[in-house]
Amino acid sequence: MRYLPICLTKQKNTLFITILLLSCITIKLDLCFSSVPSSLKALQLYGHFSFENNELAARDFGNRYHHLPLAVLHPKSVADISTTIKHVWQMGPGSELTVAARGHGHSLQGQAQAHQGIIINMESLRGGDIMRVHEGRFPYVDVPAGELWINVLHETLKYGLAPKSWTDYLHLTVGGTLSNAGISGQAFRHGPQISNVHQLEVVTGKGEVVTCSEEQNADLFHGVLGGLGQFGIITRARISLEPAPKMVKWIRVLYSDFFTFSRDQERLISAENTFDYIEGLVIKNRSGLMNNWRASFDPKDPVQAKQFVSDGRTLFCLELTKNFDPNNAESVSKEIESLLSQLSYEPSTLFMSEVSYVEFLDRVHASEKKLREKGLWDLPHPWLNLLVPRSKIQYFASEVFGNILRDTSNGPVLIYPVNKSKWDNRTSFVPPEEDIFYLVAFLSQANPTSTGTDGLAHILTQNQRVLDFCEDAHLGVKQYLPHYKTQEQWRAHFGPRWEVFVQRKSTYDPLAILAPGQGIFRKAISVL
Ligand SMILES: Cc1cc2nc3c(=O)[nH]c(=O)nc-3n(C[C@H](O)[C@H](O)[C@H](O)COP(=O)(O)OP(=O)(O)OC[C@H]3O[C@@H](n4cnc5c(N)ncnc54)[C@H](O)[C@@H]3O)c2cc1C
Ligand SMILES: *[C@@H]1O[C@H](CO)[C@@H](O)[C@H](O)[C@H]1NC(C)=O
Ligand SMILES: *[C@@H]1O[C@H](CO)[C@@H](O)[C@H](O)[C@H]1NC(C)=O
Ligand SMILES: *[C@@H]1O[C@H](CO)[C@@H](O)[C@H](O)[C@H]1NC(C)=O
Repeated sequence: MRYLPICLTKQKNTLFITILLLSCITIKLDLCFSSVPSSLKALQLYGHFSFENNELAARDFGNRYHHLPLAVLHPKSVADISTTIKHVWQMGPGSELTVAARGHGHSLQGQAQAHQGIIINMESLRGGDIMRVHEGRFPYVDVPAGELWINVLHETLKYGLAPKSWTDYLHLTVGGTLSNAGISGQAFRHGPQISNVHQLEVVTGKGEVVTCSEEQNADLFHGVLGGLGQFGIITRARISLEPAPKMVKWIRVLYSDFFTFSRDQERLISAENTFDYIEGLVIKNRSGLMNNWRASFDPKDPVQAKQFVSDGRTLFCLELTKNFDPNNAESVSKEIESLLSQLSYEPSTLFMSEVSYVEFLDRVHASEKKLREKGLWDLPHPWLNLLVPRSKIQYFASEVFGNILRDTSNGPVLIYPVNKSKWDNRTSFVPPEEDIFYLVAFLSQANPTSTGTDGLAHILTQNQRVLDFCEDAHLGVKQYLPHYKTQEQWRAHFGPRWEVFVQRKSTYDPLAILAPGQGIFRKAISVL
């Protein structure tokens, strides 16, 4: 009964579009789509479409690409997403309409946008569709994919549990990070977030709702993880949990020599008994340096720390945490002391603080609030994230930190190694060839009115110099959160994995409806 009116309108619309298309050959193409909003309005949904005031969906954190969609779907159920995609699928290659899921819009180059397409506001699926924590020997939580990681954390903490693998910033959606990888200082031990998911619910490019896991529809499961939104829209995820740590010892130490710094990092990620989080920062001729990197940290030896001068040297800051229970504070301090005694940092540069687990994980949000107050959060963010094979990291560091990078005053530069054994090579994520690789993240912000070294043009040129160096020197570097302009470049990015990626695309999204903002595939349009 319910479906009857939809079928009727659909037929009418198909006819209408066909007629329009015929006359379109002489008229402006835009006219062809004048009927699309009404065909969308006719869909029976629990949620709704908005056709106006959709500027937010044309923005992202990168703040450099702005494509206005035709419509934004605010789904209230998975069925809304399935109905919408099925509709677009049934319009066939005669329609230019594409669909992009938008998590929290924290993409950097328009990846969650769809020019004149449909944006699915994944955050609408929160709330009504609750999170469910399952306790037991192998605890997990089922969450809507539009949920923010910070909310997942707060919910699971009610049960004394928490996810194992994180990103540095938690105001990102589960579906958004799972479409990339989700990498942070825990990845050396637990793997990235895509290694900590048991099951997904996905709506494919044909509008089918599919449950997938290692055991069930495994090809779709692996394809969607790190799949850049190309094979389906993740609507739910089952995430692995562990007993939540209560408190965190948060440590920073400085090195003035990259070789020593990276050797200690590698030793730490390979050790049996080690820290719980391991990252690092490059600090180069940064004004206000000594206050910035240690904000809210106490020096172990205040008198000596004051005497430490960087002399304009490039410094490398090793950042570590050790989780602990307040009842065992004493034994953890001993353990940390023993671990630190094996490292070769500059002796007077040990800084430590003690915070709750939530405070540590949500640390970037604290900076966000400060930047927002100063109007510095919504600037253009020409970020560059690279994965560099271990055997090339010394050469990379000497050229990039020694020559190309002038200073780090445009934003933090992160660097830390991970071991690929924790990554499943059946996913769509593309790592470098070697066992150990470094994540190097240039997290710049640009002053939109500046033509100087803090301006967008300067930062983009510097990024390009880094990329050119990597390519010319054949370092085998891969981009993380990749962005390319041509399919040839995408093919090179995927390397031997390209065939599988294309195969999966033709299986799950044969019309290339999904996530056009990634710029990997173009929807094939035939006029009739
Ligand atoms: C301040 C900040 C810190 C960050 N720190 C880290 C970090 O430490 N580690 C790390 O790995 N990344 C980090 N990121 C990058 C982050 O993982 C990406 O920006 C990612 O896109 C998540 O953002 P989002 O949830 O807003 O997704 P969006 O930007 O909205 O979407 C990203 C892509 O995934 C697609 N997509 C979104 N939701 C779904 C879904 N449910 N199903 C299928 N496809 C979907 C979109 O169409 C788009 O192509 C950081 C980003 C910012 C802004
Ligand atoms: C990476 O991890 C694997 C599996 O745990 C281990 O065998 C290997 O030695 C590790 N590599 C390094 C360089 O630590
Ligand atoms: C460091 O920055 C200052 C200005 O902030 C600049 O004058 C100086 O040349 C820089 N030094 C190096 C080594 O780049
Ligand atoms: C993935 O890893 C397994 C062993 O860990 C190996 O046999 C297989 O060839 C790898 N597959 C790809 C695509 O690299």
